[in-house]
Amino acid sequence: MASLGVAWRSIPPTFLADLRDLVGPRNLLTDPDLTIGHRIDWTGRFTADPVPVVRPGSAGEIAELVTLARRDGIALVPQGGNTGLVGGATPMEGGVVVDMRRLGQVSDLDPVAGQLTAGAGATIGEVQAVARGVGWEYGVDWAARDSATVGGSIATDAGGIRFVAHGGTRRQLIGIEAVFGSGELVSHLPRVEKDNTGYQLASLLCGSEGTLGLVTAARLRLVRPPGPTVVALLGFSSVADVVSGGTMLRLGSRPLALELMTARGLELVCRHLGLTHPFEDRQEYVLLAELEDHGNTVQAVLAEMEGLTASAVALDAASQLRLWRYREGHTEAISRLGSVHKLDVTLPPGVLADFIAEIPAAVAALRPKATVWLFGHVGDGNIHVNLTGLDPDDDDIDGLVLTEVAARGGSISAEHGIGRAKRRFLSLAHGAADLAVMERLRAALDPDRICNPGVLLP
Ligand code: MLT
Ligand code: ZN
Repeated sequence: MASLGVAWRSIPPTFLADLRDLVGPRNLLTDPDLTIGHRIDWTGRFTADPVPVVRPGSAGEIAELVTLARRDGIALVPQGGNTGLVGGATPMEGGVVVDMRRLGQVSDLDPVAGQLTAGAGATIGEVQAVARGVGWEYGVDWAARDSATVGGSIATDAGGIRFVAHGGTRRQLIGIEAVFGSGELVSHLPRVEKDNTGYQLASLLCGSEGTLGLVTAARLRLVRPPGPTVVALLGFSSVADVVSGGTMLRLGSRPLALELMTARGLELVCRHLGLTHPFEDRQEYVLLAELEDHGNTVQAVLAEMEGLTASAVALDAASQLRLWRYREGHTEAISRLGSVHKLDVTLPPGVLADFIAEIPAAVAALRPKATVWLFGHVGDGNIHVNLTGLDPDDDDIDGLVLTEVAARGGSISAEHGIGRAKRRFLSLAHGAADLAVMERLRAALDPDRICNPGVLLP
């Protein structure tokens, strides 16, 4: 059995006994060998000492858990599918992991309004399946859909591959149920979309990364499914052509996704997944476009596209999935190379192409052994800059990339959140007054600082 460490010894046995009474013995995990998956983050960059894992089954139990944690000064680290990429759900300061997955029910489906209520522990894939069952779609999607949970997506204001069409998680949120760090259980899950009755707690909690409280459920807006779609892989030799091709598609059609890949990333994915390369010749940059297909409009737009050097178009669902595998395989293929620095940035359209073209040389100048992997949601200006071949603690290289982004007017976090990985750099995104107001909000709503301490705010 793994040794327990200092963090565990600072938890009073009476706290654990009260927790056991609250959730039942089956829902308090204390064997470090059984909880190992809860203390290592998905990237492998953050590993915590063993901590207990509690699995509450209702919002009421979570309110009681918060009361106990306040009494004994124990940190609560909420966790869903543990697919986060910035160490935001890893218990590095000790405390207790709160596994939210028992709150997984999807209920109160309104097929006329296109809304449903999802427990924090429901996966994105489960919400999508329920929505599809009544002819709607959930507007947020990404590759980890079958593990990532609604609660985690709200904590980080997750974006994903459909942002270009429907926006991110915040835009789907109609209402929220949550327990603040003060112990108050709030519930505002309206059945109507037009609702401007005061402060929007849902919006405040969205992107708060568990630092104000624990989200237990949400009222979510659904979107109309698209008509027939086309998926195309488009090859280019210059990134400026990719960006202008993407802009042309955004203005001339209704894209459901516009995703960038590079030759290096595609080769890695092909090797990793055993896929054949989609093109005969090497294409330096590849744009995956998913578009609504109105007759031949897509082909007509492609015929006009400057710099297009190759294309592969898929009309039926199975071929479309095959093309998506090249893009969705990136995260896993890159993670096979060891611990990954995952930076997730947005640039304004006018400087996006230059950033993508220039950042590899800037990284190489500081860390010649690093490999730069660029991919992501180019239609939103959101690029994932993944760095491998580095020490997991090498923050300076992250600082270099994020400073470049801030200097060009971009955002240092587009959709993964700040977590631990980017906490030191939050002042690149917000001035002193913004940060002071955030601190005061946190102090008011989580007075004992038990809610996910160590993430987000510097
Ligand atoms: C993606 O776009 O695939 C996700 O954000 C995951 C990642 O960045 O690796
Ligand atoms: Zn992404």
